[in-house]
Amino acid sequence: MKISSLASSIKGSPTLRLSAQAAEMRSRGLDVIALSAGELDLKPPKVVVDAAKKAIDDGIIKYTAASGMPKLHDAVAQKFAIKHNIELKRENVIITVGAKQALSNIMITILEPDDEVLIPTPYWVSYPEMVKLARGKPVIVETAAEHKFKIKADDIEKNASARTKALLLNSPSNPTGAIYSRTELEDIIAICRKKGIAIISDEIYFTIVLDGEHTSLLDFGKDVLDYAIIINGVSKAYAMTGWRLGWAIANPEIISAMGRIQSHQTSNACTISQYAAIAAMGNADDFAPKVVSLMRERRKIAMELLENIQGIEPLEPDGAFYIFCDVRKLLGERFASSEKLSEYLLQNALVATVPGEAFGMPGFLRISIAIDKDKLSEALNRIAKAIR
Ligand SMILES: Cc1ncc(COP(=O)(O)O)c(C=O)c1O
Repeated sequence: MKISSLASSIKGSPTLRLSAQAAEMRSRGLDVIALSAGELDLKPPKVVVDAAKKAIDDGIIKYTAASGMPKLHDAVAQKFAIKHNIELKRENVIITVGAKQALSNIMITILEPDDEVLIPTPYWVSYPEMVKLARGKPVIVETAAEHKFKIKADDIEKNASARTKALLLNSPSNPTGAIYSRTELEDIIAICRKKGIAIISDEIYFTIVLDGEHTSLLDFGKDVLDYAIIINGVSKAYAMTGWRLGWAIANPEIISAMGRIQSHQTSNACTISQYAAIAAMGNADDFAPKVVSLMRERRKIAMELLENIQGIEPLEPDGAFYIFCDVRKLLGERFASSEKLSEYLLQNALVATVPGEAFGMPGFLRISIAIDKDKLSEALNRIAKAIR
């Protein structure tokens, strides 16, 4: 049987592949430290775990509506309505199998074949492939280091065409940790509205803000859902990656179309996780500040160690839990590319990192700081030694 040209064109997730490779090396007894994973090394809040256990004990684990439980729609709508002083109803929310599925679903929902989606580099690894899966065309937009690799209104103007349907924004960003300010977003919104470009705003790291503050698209008033779709979930905010629960907030027409698609693709997100997410929405607000102070401590440790490695220039993140490092000074005869450097570090320092190629940005490496501080220090010392 022959696989389709679409399937042949899709690359597997490099971060998941690297984490699997690290796990496989560990199973062979090698002491690999993974700085490649995109997940917190913490347990979810106790209320969340208790709610999941109770749902199991009560035996109420059946299918729910494909778009999720009304009670969870209400909990999400209420939480974000209060937080952003905006009116949201349950019809504005769909519950998905992680933010990943919400993103993939929205592409199918709004794209016609060959419609273009603007994706600023460096981008989260899955964005271009998700656009391709929906038979759209990813248009990769270069950004400038001086502007912390954030897209500007000018870049949108230059890269938009008559076929541009949407812009993918990610703030705080994976991999750079950059956060868009209110003024930057105002400029972006203005140009997108002028050109009729929808904004898909991936805000999955919204609670992990180490410096400054996070502005959500939901902060832009009640007509925001005429032009934006907000993607979020519990994976990063509540250390619930494996629970696979996310959502999209959009206008009811979009939500209803996404629901129809989802009803044939996955049915509902895991029912146990939905009960857990209801608990998270109302009772776990003390979790984020703990994560933030932990990440600030680790960022400090990691920045100091990285700044002392010759050839590595780390970009200090304002949010999320990664440090994106410029390694171009190390490239040349010894390492042909950041991919080769990453491979070398895995084989020789037993440290897994993600090369910039995965984010559309060769010459960089992403390291995760969502790991115990002693292990983090040891991994960075190993990298320093291997490079020396
Ligand atoms: C920017 C970004 N968006 C979305 C996701 C997917 O999140 P989820 O686990 O909820 O599918 C990730 C996970 O790494 C991410 O980094």
